Amino acid sequence: MAFNRKDSYYKQAKREGKRSRAIYKIEEIDQRFRFFKRGQKILELGAAPGGWMEYIARRVGTSGHILGLDLLTISELPSPPCQTLVADILAPDTGARIDALVNPPFDGVVSDLAPNLTGIKATDQANSIAMLEAATELGLERLKKSGFLICKVFQGSELKQFQLQMKNRFQKITLAKPKASRKTSSEIYLVATGYAGKTSCQ
Ligand SMILES: C[S@@+](CC[C@H](N)C(=O)[O-])C[C@H]1O[C@@H](n2cnc3c(N)ncnc32)[C@H](O)[C@@H]1O
Repeated sequence: MAFNRKDSYYKQAKREGKRSRAIYKIEEIDQRFRFFKRGQKILELGAAPGGWMEYIARRVGTSGHILGLDLLTISELPSPPCQTLVADILAPDTGARIDALVNPPFDGVVSDLAPNLTGIKATDQANSIAMLEAATELGLERLKKSGFLICKVFQGSELKQFQLQMKNRFQKITLAKPKASRKTSSEIYLVATGYAGKTSCQ
């Protein structure tokens, strides 16, 4: 089913001078769960064009730090708290490149990663799983004990499996479908709080 790219959230983003309509998704999730606080250190995976970073920057303030990573260059954002890194989450040196910029651990890891779709269902699903695994590994390796994870997942067999894995690692798991997420999209956000820490999950 075709979707209207220029829906009300798109128009609102244009009107308000936001980088992307995605900003309203993280805003809604945060209004519900109240994750972000002044001074926090946040890692965002799949951050271009920077809509979430704009929102999170306001919430963590200049005493905080947000490192946004993407294949694409993110145009300038206020620094502090923003810092960007052009990198592929699937590349073997990406973890070391993150650590060279910001000392872990992070208070929270957020991922809005979306693979480029080929239209071939099996390929898209495999790419999406590979990306989710890489994001989880990179993120959880650098997340502090009791920290949080917000992660875009696509509904289907991958979600069930991922939910089960995360249940062993976090105190609480919730699924959120913000209003700004298109109804026609299978994306959903897994919101996990109370990270058990690296030792109990390896
Ligand atoms: C939905 S967009 C993120 C929107 C962003 N949260 C915002 O608010 O502006 C998904 C991003 O994932 C990025 N991405 C896809 N594959 C990637 C990879 N292998 N490594 C890093 N980023 C990737 C894309 O370049 C794209 O910018």
